[in-house]
Amino acid sequence: MHRSMYVELEARQRAASENAYATPLSEFHPGNPELFRSDTLWPYFERLRNEEPVHFCSTSPVGNYWSVTKYNDIMHVETNPAIFSSDVNLGGIMLRDVEPDHKWPSFITMDEPKHAPQRKTVSPMFTPTHLDTLAILIRERSAKVLDNLPRNETFNWVERVSVELTTQMLATLFDFPWQDRRKLTRWSDLATALPKSMIFDSEEQRLAELDECADYFTRLWNERVNVEPRSDLISLMAHSDATRYMDRDTWLGNLILLIVGGNDTTRNSISGSVLALNEHPDEYDKLRGNQALIDSFVPEVIRWQTPLAHMRRTALHDTELGGRSIKKGDRVVMWYVSGNRDSEVIENADSFFIDRARPRTHLSFGFGIHRCVGMRLAELQLKIVWEEILKRFDDIEVVGEPKRVYSSFVKGYETLPVRINA
Ligand code: HEM
Repeated sequence: MHRSMYVELEARQRAASENAYATPLSEFHPGNPELFRSDTLWPYFERLRNEEPVHFCSTSPVGNYWSVTKYNDIMHVETNPAIFSSDVNLGGIMLRDVEPDHKWPSFITMDEPKHAPQRKTVSPMFTPTHLDTLAILIRERSAKVLDNLPRNETFNWVERVSVELTTQMLATLFDFPWQDRRKLTRWSDLATALPKSMIFDSEEQRLAELDECADYFTRLWNERVNVEPRSDLISLMAHSDATRYMDRDTWLGNLILLIVGGNDTTRNSISGSVLALNEHPDEYDKLRGNQALIDSFVPEVIRWQTPLAHMRRTALHDTELGGRSIKKGDRVVMWYVSGNRDSEVIENADSFFIDRARPRTHLSFGFGIHRCVGMRLAELQLKIVWEEILKRFDDIEVVGEPKRVYSSFVKGYETLPVRINA
């Protein structure tokens, strides 16, 4: 990356650090999406971990909430779903409450006993044997995308590689009509976008497009429900008692979950991997020198990127956490992005090392009953893409600052300008 970009970035981060340490903790709103767009969140979370690891924010435009910022406290919330609920009717799993007309329930926004049978329906997709089959397709398709990249000219890695590869992966999981696969990208973007993100013009337009998504998938469902079950996600849901009789809203909710779950997260890990190696050239050299390190590099990148910065729960009872009293109905936000930098649990958590001894000690996939069902597939996609990259290119250079997403939920990139030097 060009030296001038580092200088600018360092200056911005220094200013953010001064501001974070000058602001009273009572005024902290760590979920402000602006901190994520400008990549200046770090000193705020560092201060919270050190000074007030369970913090109450009463200054947010989206309502009051608790922030849980340390690894072990996050694990406590994750492993006590009878106290900390994911229910969409209580607000769901994002800091911002689900709006009343956006209540598309899915199994990630359900508690037990409803959650487990629906999760079980889709889990055959992610067994090691089925992933071995998928790996062949993923490798062929990744190779094709990489072979078509330009050399010695600047292009947007997000669009040309990350979006394309994850969209292809998703189309494969759904057995979705190949020529229409970019619709999946659009629906994923629409489902997670904030009003200020400028991805849609009006709320009506957004709802109309998501309605089109439900209609499109319903056509595929109708084609598959009365034929021999196949192994795609739609067939799995159409042939399981737990999901066969879903109402339209739950159907749309589960589709959005599977589209977003697999799309933005993996996309941003792929982009984040290129950026992380450019920011740590010694680690890039290590990887070039020893490709066996891909196995520990992949989970390290997923920790480093933390593609979903948080998950939220709602307290079902009065309880205590980190010495603070949480009341029934309070919002509790688990900041994975902060827990992943907790040096009490992860050695040198602020450093990026591709050869860590225990690289899977991270919170990026969550934990407990909702732990990411697609985590092995995500790791597989990243592993394959890097094996194929290293076969072809010696140097993917980041040549400009990435444009980051305006969100404190999806932590990722809209653009990442790169050049493949050949
Ligand atoms: C690097 C990529 C990924 C990351 C960082 C990620 C992250 C997460 C996180 C944080 C959760 C919630 C965990 C919790 O509440 O404890 C989750 C759940 C989930 N993820 Fe992923 N995910 C990724 C890839 C995928 C893929 C490829 C799929 C497959 C389509 C997927 C599907 C899901 C589903 C269906 C759930 C809900 C599980 C449940 O509620 O039981 N994810 N993921």
